[in-house]
Amino acid sequence: MILLTGATGFIGSHIWVELITAGYEVIGVDNFSNSSRNVLSRLTKLINQSIQFKEIDICNSYLLELLFKEYPIKGVIHLAALKAVGNSVQDPIAYYSNNVSGMINLLKISNKYNCKNIVYSSSATVYGNPDITPIPESAELNPINPYGRTKLIGEQILRDLEIADPSFKVIYLRYFNPIGAHPSGLIGEDPIGIPNNICPILVKVVIGQLPELRIFGDDWQTSDGTGVRDYIHVVDLAKAHVKAIDYLLKGNSSVTLNLGTGKGYSVMDLIKTFEKITGKTIPYTIVDRRPGDIAVCFANPNLSEVYLGWKAEYDLEKMCEDAWRWQFQNPSGYLT
Ligand code: WQD
Repeated sequence: MILLTGATGFIGSHIWVELITAGYEVIGVDNFSNSSRNVLSRLTKLINQSIQFKEIDICNSYLLELLFKEYPIKGVIHLAALKAVGNSVQDPIAYYSNNVSGMINLLKISNKYNCKNIVYSSSATVYGNPDITPIPESAELNPINPYGRTKLIGEQILRDLEIADPSFKVIYLRYFNPIGAHPSGLIGEDPIGIPNNICPILVKVVIGQLPELRIFGDDWQTSDGTGVRDYIHVVDLAKAHVKAIDYLLKGNSSVTLNLGTGKGYSVMDLIKTFEKITGKTIPYTIVDRRPGDIAVCFANPNLSEVYLGWKAEYDLEKMCEDAWRWQFQNPSGYLT
């Protein structure tokens, strides 16, 4: 059985679907700090079978231990974390407490119950402002915000744990920019409050829930002056996690892998793609750069193909089509 933490989140819910589809037994846990309980009924409908879930905060040792007592957990896919870059600058203690202490708590109990296969949700933000692009896994690690630092600290804790106990095996997955939604339109990105990331903002502008997109600077060193990122379909990202747990449970050694497409797209590319998909014009205003932003970030994803036999399949149009379908079919997200 696989423990999936952060299971009802945007990425967690999509991983859950792919794990079940691949035949895994999953116990999902979440504290609903940034997700809706309604995800559970949507997932049940989507996979057409009952799901196993416990409302648990990974900082709660007592409930986490009960979980390991109750379920024969052989592997952990650990996503539970706070992930808003801007919010991490305003409230770093919340990020270090949840993302670092929470993970330490999980590892203590996982170790106690001899569960030593970990798929760890890391992030491209560990690279900070990259000195080379496309970014290889060997690039310098220099996160520039508390969120990115919690992700890097998480990697360092796991690497030290592997040295102390070589029976621990870890796949470190560095996500680039996950966007889109499951093609069914039943699950998708539904951030609580005002979205931070560009994709949920764009679809809300298209549907008329937000007046315009505020573009954070058009004077970056890029082709059109707007920020460039490696957008990856969330279903592609989810499928990589199935490959990663397969890889670990076959007894393979630890490895660090980028999860990206290897292509960089600007904010203007994203706007034009959404306008093409929806047939609507997206109003925008150029405003000042956002603190902590970088110009260009996209992956060298080759190692993921070498180790996992995985590569991203979906292009930017498909990502935008699926993101739009989710928003159009669910104007109020999971409250629809
Ligand atoms: C993308 C581009 C902005 C909003 C995110 C997460 C981070 C990590 C990686 C998981 C940038 C521009 C954005 C807006 C804009 N995910 N933008 N106006 O900053 O790359 O990081 O993905 O680990 O947690 O924060 O993504 O979507 O915020 O920005 O112009 O209103 O869109 O400047 O160029 P980012 P983003």
